[in-house]
Amino acid sequence: MADRHGADVVVLGGGPIGLATAWRAAQRGLDVLVLDAGAPAAWQVAAGMLAPATEAEYGEEALLELGLRSAASFESFAAELTETAGQDAGFRRSGTLVVARDRDDAEALDRLFEFRTSLGLEVTRLRPTPARRLEPALAPTVRLALEFPHDHSIDPRRMVCALEVAVRRSGGEIRHGANVVRLDAQDERVTGVQLETGERISAAQVLVAGGAWTSTLAGLPDEVRVPVRPVKGQVLRLRDPAGPGLVQRSIRTLDAYLVPRADGGYVLGATMEDQGFDLTPTAGGVFELLRDLSEVLPGLFEMQIEEVLCGLRPATPDNRPAVGPGALDGLVWSTGHFRNGILLTPVSAELGAAVLAGESLPEWARDCAPERFTTKAAA
Ligand code: GLY
Repeated sequence: MADRHGADVVVLGGGPIGLATAWRAAQRGLDVLVLDAGAPAAWQVAAGMLAPATEAEYGEEALLELGLRSAASFESFAAELTETAGQDAGFRRSGTLVVARDRDDAEALDRLFEFRTSLGLEVTRLRPTPARRLEPALAPTVRLALEFPHDHSIDPRRMVCALEVAVRRSGGEIRHGANVVRLDAQDERVTGVQLETGERISAAQVLVAGGAWTSTLAGLPDEVRVPVRPVKGQVLRLRDPAGPGLVQRSIRTLDAYLVPRADGGYVLGATMEDQGFDLTPTAGGVFELLRDLSEVLPGLFEMQIEEVLCGLRPATPDNRPAVGPGALDGLVWSTGHFRNGILLTPVSAELGAAVLAGESLPEWARDCAPERFTTKAAA
């Protein structure tokens, strides 16, 4: 669509959040154009854990509630996506097992168990024998395990392929290689965007879903910006030459995780590094992942290395995403999803599309309102 000069809604970012929001907005009858620069994105390397209960942190109850809400809707979201796109969106009902390598880990797992139980989350504490009954490939040295039966997974690459088809089938458009460098605004209102090529596209509304690159967008004064910084994660993708089935569940230690794919692929993640926009894998990063996970799953040593990758998680100062109206008319944010971009895709899409359609954020989503970061109130 090289000639296009305007749209009701221009979405900046062709990752899961941008595409899913575009899909939902198109279903509401909005004329949607997604612009994707093709920059390295976190979803391309993400393991796709849908693990709100496993990842719950002290003091992050609002994020947990959002994650649980999104996780609860994920299976139907994926089924609808699969049906609309006519291709598998990659959802697996896998569950997750968190395992202790030694006595210190086991003590930490007991604390995690108490905390999750106090939050009313479903989790089962397993001694080594029952844990190995569930996952026979676990090392005999595993001391303790927690089973989270509802923390499933999705293959983000499959999900994004399906979302692209769904957006188009719902009447939306997607342009790849469209690098937006600037947001145009006049009289406190967004008027469109400017591409690297100099091309301008007018828009009644612009949804910023640029992940870690959100901060590189020019044209916005500081007082209306959502602060997002990149947090590097190194990821290793392995393949079992023997085919799928070494483990059924996602497996976590306190420091790393492994997510099995249906085809014998495994995604191991991930480091947490404040290194700016650095996308270089390191020997140390790969070593950490293999050391932590092979200790509990020695079968990893037989696997082939397919990819070593880095992703940039988009982090806000309080780890919660910013989803909702911005401080200029026509500006809507859906960014800052940090460790939870895949998990929060369905719920962010519903919220973003509702706001684009002129609705207010529901009360349960007020903790995501972008205005908590801006010194100028939402428009
Ligand atoms: N959600 C997993 C990660 O960010 O590494």
